Amino acid sequence: MKFVKINREKLIESAQETLAKVKYYQKLGLICDDGDFVPSVHYPPITEYPLIDVDEYFKTFTLPKDGMMDIYVHIPFCIRHCLFCHYPGMVGDNNDEKEKYISYLIREIDIYRKRFGIDKIKPRSILLGGGTPTYLKPELLDHFLTEFGKRVDMSACRQYNVDLDPNSIIGEDGTKRCEIMKKHGITRLTIGIQSLDDDVLKAMNRPHTVKEAEESIYKAVEYGFDVNIEFIYGHPGETIDNWIDVMEKAVQFPVGEIQLYRLKVKAYGDYQGAINKLVRGSGKTDIPDFETTMMMKQIAVDILEANGFHENLRRVYSKTKKVFSHYAYNQCCNQYDQVGFGLTGFSSYRDRFDINVYDFNEYYDYIDKGLLPINRGYVRPLNEQVRWAIVLPLKNRDVRKREFLQRTGIEFDSLNQTKIDLLKEYGLIEDDGNVVKLTKIGGFLADEVCEQFNSLPYIPFPKERYADGVLNPYSNNDLIENEKELQ
Ligand SMILES: C[S@@+](CC[C@H](N)C(=O)[O-])C[C@H]1O[C@@H](n2cnc3c(N)ncnc32)[C@H](O)[C@@H]1O
Ligand code: SF4
Repeated sequence: MKFVKINREKLIESAQETLAKVKYYQKLGLICDDGDFVPSVHYPPITEYPLIDVDEYFKTFTLPKDGMMDIYVHIPFCIRHCLFCHYPGMVGDNNDEKEKYISYLIREIDIYRKRFGIDKIKPRSILLGGGTPTYLKPELLDHFLTEFGKRVDMSACRQYNVDLDPNSIIGEDGTKRCEIMKKHGITRLTIGIQSLDDDVLKAMNRPHTVKEAEESIYKAVEYGFDVNIEFIYGHPGETIDNWIDVMEKAVQFPVGEIQLYRLKVKAYGDYQGAINKLVRGSGKTDIPDFETTMMMKQIAVDILEANGFHENLRRVYSKTKKVFSHYAYNQCCNQYDQVGFGLTGFSSYRDRFDINVYDFNEYYDYIDKGLLPINRGYVRPLNEQVRWAIVLPLKNRDVRKREFLQRTGIEFDSLNQTKIDLLKEYGLIEDDGNVVKLTKIGGFLADEVCEQFNSLPYIPFPKERYADGVLNPYSNNDLIENEKELQ
């Protein structure tokens, strides 16, 4: 497809129109006072889970009937720490530590196999993330993929994805890693490009240049992987002008998917990245304000849509409906069981959720004792199960009422409709009788609309940080009868 260029005035005009709508919703209480947000990636938010006794937790656990689970594996090593990143990890070329970690990771998987009473785990999809899983030496990557491969039954696996940074697949070692990944059946690479502006990459403390980022994309395509490239908007150093240039270049790569992340300054997990100190501490930074950030998003959407990319899963724009992250779709839309291994790895099952420790030594200690390195978890009571079955599918694609009933035992239409009716009336969600989904502007403000369904303790900001309007998330919050008694 030939590149379609939209003239800059038109892009700005469209972005201003969207910004006016955003401000309107902010006045109604949908968005907090300074526009900050917390992405609805898990529900309830994982850091809020209490400490658990793992034996107690698994006493009431049952495997899914078909025995299948999506798999996440966390490999927390990076070349260096990027300014914006809130993932704890070890930086530098410490091969001994990496070898040690990989051996423990394999032992953790074995403890799980024993706990589940199965020889092999049967995934629908696999995601290796981090960190940068490809920042292992090629031989160690090969060793891990071989050992991991012995412990999984790949007969029903539809997607095997690795998240990585561009450096790790270029140069001589990069070529070896691409070959190793092909050999082990990896199908999709998610590459963190973040920006295509060298000054912005420098401000981000990224370990690569624009030229290297481009090289990694062509290399991944040449090796026949499905390629998804990721960008951050709203980062210090980004402006409307340089962002337009970045997006215009991005849509011209031969990739099937482009993913956009709005910069999150304050962590919503356990580990706070350096960006918060820079932005909030000194107050001296060239970070785009909320209004500019919203305009950047609309500009990106306009450039993407004009060039054949449409939002397929939330914030992931693809050229065809067929390409998307199976891991995200299965976990957030189908709400299938998913098991996570490694430091900070989390598991999301039909009625519960747990997370591993985030300190290396603690992780090793648990495994040395033959224990799963889980320390926090949560079995959802009915009211939170209802909210979980709305927040994640609504955010990512849609709530299918029949499936909602299977997951909760409750008819969607029997919920208290006050909030749902308000969201419909204000043009944020639509309901065709069977499926509830976000409208176009609802999708633009997906995190804020979905947090309307969070229960009171999990609304991200205090009540007074939202305008006292009809869409203040603290109003009309009850969804089922006697909800407070269930908490
Ligand atoms: C877990 S990171 C791993 C990516 C990979 N290690 C890399 O560096 O390219 C996945 C993606 O989350 C996004 N991300 C990370 N921190 C973010 C933040 N603070 N705000 C917004 N997006 C962020 C980035 O686009 C990143 O590529
Ligand atoms: S963004 Fe990627 S490379 Fe950078 S610190 Fe985070 S996980 Fe590591």
